[in-house]
Amino acid sequence: MNAVAKFAVTISLIAASLVSSTGAWAKDVYLNQIPRINGISFDPDDADRFVVATYHGVFGVAPNGLTDHLAPGVGALTAMARHPSHPSTLIASGYKNQKTKLGVVLSDDGGRTWASVAQGWQGPVAFHSIAYSPSEPSIIYGVDKKIQISRDSGKTWNSVGETPARVFDIAVSADDPMRVYAATETGLLRSTDGGKNWKPAHKLKHPATMVDIQQNGTIHTFYYGTGFFRARDGELPAWSKISDGFADRALLDLEISPHDDQTMLAAADTGAVMISKDGGRNWRSFEGRLFATAPRIEAGRTLFEENCQACHGVRGVGEKLGDPVAPDEGEGPLAPALDDTMHAWHHADEQLIGTILEGLPESERMIAWKEQDMVREEAESIVAYMKSLWDFRALACQGPRHMGCMR
Ligand code: HEC
Repeated sequence: MNAVAKFAVTISLIAASLVSSTGAWAKDVYLNQIPRINGISFDPDDADRFVVATYHGVFGVAPNGLTDHLAPGVGALTAMARHPSHPSTLIASGYKNQKTKLGVVLSDDGGRTWASVAQGWQGPVAFHSIAYSPSEPSIIYGVDKKIQISRDSGKTWNSVGETPARVFDIAVSADDPMRVYAATETGLLRSTDGGKNWKPAHKLKHPATMVDIQQNGTIHTFYYGTGFFRARDGELPAWSKISDGFADRALLDLEISPHDDQTMLAAADTGAVMISKDGGRNWRSFEGRLFATAPRIEAGRTLFEENCQACHGVRGVGEKLGDPVAPDEGEGPLAPALDDTMHAWHHADEQLIGTILEGLPESERMIAWKEQDMVREEAESIVAYMKSLWDFRALACQGPRHMGCMR
């Protein structure tokens, strides 16, 4: 599938996932169980919490990934943005149900209650990207089929005109409400007249899936197949590549912590939330981030080398016939790779921790390590070490999301 077709699929998944929506939610839902995250916003009062917009409404997320269903009934949200100067105000858009678009909705209490504010131009609209002007927050841009602008805090909307290519994401300059950047299927574009005319803002001409501008003028963008870039907003942005190695996965939404600009959350195209603690150089899955610290990964490596490596191989490459303790051909399964070359990443962290502590009932060799006095914290550290061997793709596709990632 080429990149453009891929994002077409991403957006058309909306209807399919509404069909599978049950309406009734289990009690303890973790972030990795929610099929798709379409918008992320940090809690301005609490550095460790954030809210997410999903096809099942709005959830608050605690540091351990446990969610709180703040607004189940608001609809299937496809975009959300926080007001730059009134942090409890959120604006969003999406679908009311399978057939009806929602228009534009607003919350004044951090996402708990929502009220309709507008249908949008030729609405009702379902914006898949929405952005406030940081310098004049009464100006808001939204992207449905075309880019629309509101100059009155979202009450009335107009089309800004044609865009040269299909737009995935939009962001507004912190200096000038008429300077807008659009991540499109032909790359990152910029308009200095509120969206009437567009010029390339980056030399690459293939799909850019995300663009974000900070209050301090830092722009980030993501190019499918190429990587994550940063520049300063200005006449001619000079881009530097911050990271690559995303394989066939993409970042669709970026949120930088208001408490610390090195901490970033991003929604991957798989629906997974990824986290970076170093300004976007290294990414890991949000799942398990509490134990994915350098000391615990190191502790996990030591435990792995002492207890697991004899069968699962150096750096978890897996066992081969003829290895020192390997069974003979036909005498039972070999110890599988625990790096990202086999299917360890098809399991969520909890399942991996369970397998380590409880063992595999069918296997005499994969014993219950709790009976060897291994405690949960140690199993978590081993999982953190295993995941340090995985690439971005395996991390973004881990657990319940892996089905959607099969080639
Ligand atoms: C004596 C050899 C041996 C040792 C030591 C061992 N394992 Fe295993 N492990 C296996 C075998 C064999 C399997 C596959 C069993 C099967 O498929 O029935 C397995 C399976 C697993 C799985 C499931 C993988 C998957 O993709 O489903 C995990 C996770 C795992 N081991 C982790 C560990 C960890 C962590 C340790 C160290 C604490 C460890 N193993 C120690 C032999 C071993």
